Amino acid sequence: MEKTFLMVKPDGVQRNLIGEIVSRFEKKGFQLVGGKLMSISQELAEEHYGEHKERPFFGELVDFITSGPVFAMVWEGENVIATARLMMGATNPKDAAPGTIRGDFGITVGKNVIHGSDSPTSAEREIGLFFKEEELVDYSKLM
Ligand code: CMP
Repeated sequence: MEKTFLMVKPDGVQRNLIGEIVSRFEKKGFQLVGGKLMSISQELAEEHYGEHKERPFFGELVDFITSGPVFAMVWEGENVIATARLMMGATNPKDAAPGTIRGDFGITVGKNVIHGSDSPTSAEREIGLFFKEEELVDYSKLM
């Protein structure tokens, strides 16, 4: 079954949005297979956002994501990567439709509440960066 990496960013954690965000994905029907409240080190932030290294906002991005706790998650379900992106809304909250997470809770592109993997390759890479295999649960034997 497809898996994706989602993360409530420091602004979302500080604004007490973890429950609201988890609830949206639960109600949609996806399954939470891993989750942890954690602080991101400088090294992990630079690795996670490596593809943005040359962008002018890279320093700001790393400073922000390391500024406070995040809630890192792995979710599982059919087409979860693309569907979670739809539920999150456009990267810049000013373009995100009402009803999406960023459309409902975000205002600026830097503090846009949530991160989600954008492809199967990113999902695999990001899950591997944040979680050990044994930190993910397996519901497949549930009766
Ligand atoms: P995210 O999905 O976490 O992936 C990369 C992040 O870069 C993105 O969300 C935005 O929060 C951030 N970002 C994109 N453009 C800008 C920008 N112009 N200034 C600051 N941050 C940005």
